[in-house]
Amino acid sequence: MQNSQIETTIADLYKDSKNDYLKMMKGAAKSIFSPIQPSDFKDAYLAISKEQGIDLVDLIKSNNLKNMVEFGTSFGISTLFLAQGATETGGRIITTELIKSKAKKAIVNFKNAGVNDLIEVRIGDAMETLKNYTESIDLLLLDGWKDLYLPLFQMLEPNFHANTIIYVDNADMADSRKFLEKVSQNSKYQLQRKYAGKVVIISIE
Ligand SMILES: C[S@@+](CC[C@H](N)C(=O)[O-])C[C@H]1O[C@@H](n2cnc3c(N)ncnc32)[C@H](O)[C@@H]1O
Repeated sequence: MQNSQIETTIADLYKDSKNDYLKMMKGAAKSIFSPIQPSDFKDAYLAISKEQGIDLVDLIKSNNLKNMVEFGTSFGISTLFLAQGATETGGRIITTELIKSKAKKAIVNFKNAGVNDLIEVRIGDAMETLKNYTESIDLLLLDGWKDLYLPLFQMLEPNFHANTIIYVDNADMADSRKFLEKVSQNSKYQLQRKYAGKVVIISIE
């Protein structure tokens, strides 16, 4: 029952995200006049693909990942895939969203999917809302603004353990590439590219 409720909610959200391209273009057009801001994308989902989501659920199940942290909730599509995995492993999710209106809609979506009790939403800048986070992390999903991938990763590094997996979305963007170059200098991190480089999965040796 819970799984079909999650799947229905995800399907509805993908339908609603159909106009994302127009919303993204509208947000990006503003950058001609002023630097681009997260609020320019307050109505856009910018979600991971369904294929990625299904793969994420498999990754969670096959590695028995329980303690999950997400940077960049948006309206919660990726979080719902994490929740789908969490229902199989007995896991929990902390997800972070800068824009309050997006976070609030995500919470409604989590309630509709029947998984609200598995997810804690931290509203505000993840660099602040995860600052004093001390729990160990099994899966870190990076999908917020790319210039924060490196500082956020470094801030949470003490919470990693030998089996931690870091899932990097939009790994082919300029700031993500700089982040990955830095991470790859440390031989303890192994990088695996997927989806023609859109995603990189980091594991620990
Ligand atoms: C690509 S979208 C996330 C998509 C979501 N993971 C999904 O697949 O459904 C990136 C989100 O990160 C949020 N964000 C950007 N900077 C952030 C920050 N410093 N802290 C928390 N969230 C942030 C943006 O507001 C935006 O909603």
